[in-house]
Amino acid sequence: MFKKVERVVCVGAGYVGGPTCAMIAHKCPGITVTVVDMNAAKIDEWNSDKLPIFEHGLDEIVFAARGKNLFFSSDIPKAIREADLIFISVNTPTKTYGRGKGMAPDLKYVESVARTIAQYAGGPKIVVEKSTVPVKAAESIGCILRDAQKNCPELKFQVLSNPEFLAEGTAMRDLANPDRVLIGGESSPEGALAVEALVTVYENWVPRERIITTNTWSSELSKLVANAFLAQRISSINAISAVCEATGADVSEVAHAVGCDTRIGNKFLKASVGFGGSCFQKDVLSLVYLCESLNLQKVADYWHGVIEINDWQRRRFADKIIAELFNTVTDKKIAVFGFAFKKDTGDTRESSAIHVSKHLMEEHARLAIYDPKVPKSQVLYELGLQTSPADVEKLVTVYNDPYEAAKDAHAIVVLTEWDEFTTFDFSRIHASMRHPAAIFDGRLILDQKALREIGFRTFAIGSAPDQAYNLFGTSGY
Ligand code: UDX
Ligand code: UDX
Ligand code: ADP
Repeated sequence: MFKKVERVVCVGAGYVGGPTCAMIAHKCPGITVTVVDMNAAKIDEWNSDKLPIFEHGLDEIVFAARGKNLFFSSDIPKAIREADLIFISVNTPTKTYGRGKGMAPDLKYVESVARTIAQYAGGPKIVVEKSTVPVKAAESIGCILRDAQKNCPELKFQVLSNPEFLAEGTAMRDLANPDRVLIGGESSPEGALAVEALVTVYENWVPRERIITTNTWSSELSKLVANAFLAQRISSINAISAVCEATGADVSEVAHAVGCDTRIGNKFLKASVGFGGSCFQKDVLSLVYLCESLNLQKVADYWHGVIEINDWQRRRFADKIIAELFNTVTDKKIAVFGFAFKKDTGDTRESSAIHVSKHLMEEHARLAIYDPKVPKSQVLYELGLQTSPADVEKLVTVYNDPYEAAKDAHAIVVLTEWDEFTTFDFSRIHASMRHPAAIFDGRLILDQKALREIGFRTFAIGSAPDQAYNLFGTSGY
């Protein structure tokens, strides 16, 4: 009943849907890919010379395939009618209201797409959930679709789970060369056929042994668990960073020594001011909520610790800045270098920079923010949500030039690990600042020794402060 996949549609033209479909179109010239979104302005951007998201290598692929086998459209019903396979790739933010508020993912967008598919399908479709969803979401989608089937016998649906593991900033590389592709489906013969149809799409460029097929729930849960494990590694090393600061160990040396154990591995052990991004916090909270719903409170508490450490790390870093600036930042200009949640992206969702900035604003610091990719309007918008537009107006200035941002500042605070920060002329910057001038490196990218030689007071996450560590000193050890 499911023929070879020739027409793919993706509902949701965001960070996941856009790049994923561009890669499918690029690697599968025989497949026509249409990306639709209810946000017509976003579709216009995808059809323009300036794409709505920035990823290395994305422009080239989109510009080459667009109009040939890759299309961006607002006509959702038509696209659904014509599709063999439909990806659901809409946002699933943490709920801000009602049951599960602050914990559970909001599934209203996913459900609304399921209803739209039921309404316009007109024939057999493979429906693939790509958005990160709680375990058993495929069942809800299936339930809505099966209900439509009752009145319309020619409708046939199979729901698959195919979570995306791409990371922002390296999306095209991750998509072109994934560690694995995960596809979950029903174990019925029809389910197996649908799984095989999607496997065939990926086989155009992914070796078969890297395509894992599982039951639907394993696939859904694996996505949450993968992100929870990655976030947990960062919270683990960040927890250790506090121990290092208090004892004179150096967190980078510890991470290196620990990561050399092949059973542990060296990735995702970089101490930082805390993880951000649209996925980690949301997915860990979703896992916590799932465990609570299953009455597994111990498990819920265990994973909630990952979030608690992350919040604490941000707060701790802001407190350190205030303490080192003689316990007051009121009316002091502080240059913030980096606002994106990590380098090579303009995305600010859940960025630690937002939280550290907020803590400093609560102490009435005047922030001079520079980020090479994040637009001014976005910085102001994010901070406005956390504080108030009046405070933002009074306390925040966004600069296009890092040297201007640092001029007359008492301190520089590095919150994103942009490579260009390491190339700045810090002697020039130091000369233009108020003295004593301080640098707080929340990303461990700057050469502390070189900065100290210039005359900066320096503080970096996970190493003992400026002065040589003294076992009998005041560290409290
Ligand atoms: C451990 C460390 O591996 C070793 O590097 C250190 O020097 C001493 O402590 P050991 O206690 O001998 O070595 O055994 P290990 O193989 O690490 O197993 C420890 C326990 O964890 C065992 O009970 C083992 O059954 C259990 N385990 C290990 C699991 O339950 N699951 C796993 O995936 C691995
Ligand atoms: C993550 C997962 O990596 C990806 O597989 C999933 O599909 C989506 O969520 P992403 O959020 O884009 O991707 O970025 P990632 O590179 O994982 O970084 C997340 C956050 O952790 C960033 O704020 C980053 O700076 C921080 N981080 C990462 C650290 O603080 N230390 C590290 O060692 C690694
Ligand atoms: P992600 O990071 O998961 O890709 P984004 O927020 O970047 O999330 O993108 C999700 C996209 O899904 C948005 O562009 C949004 O407009 C779109 N979307 C949400 N609900 C629907 C819907 N019911 N129909 C079509 N598009 C939708």
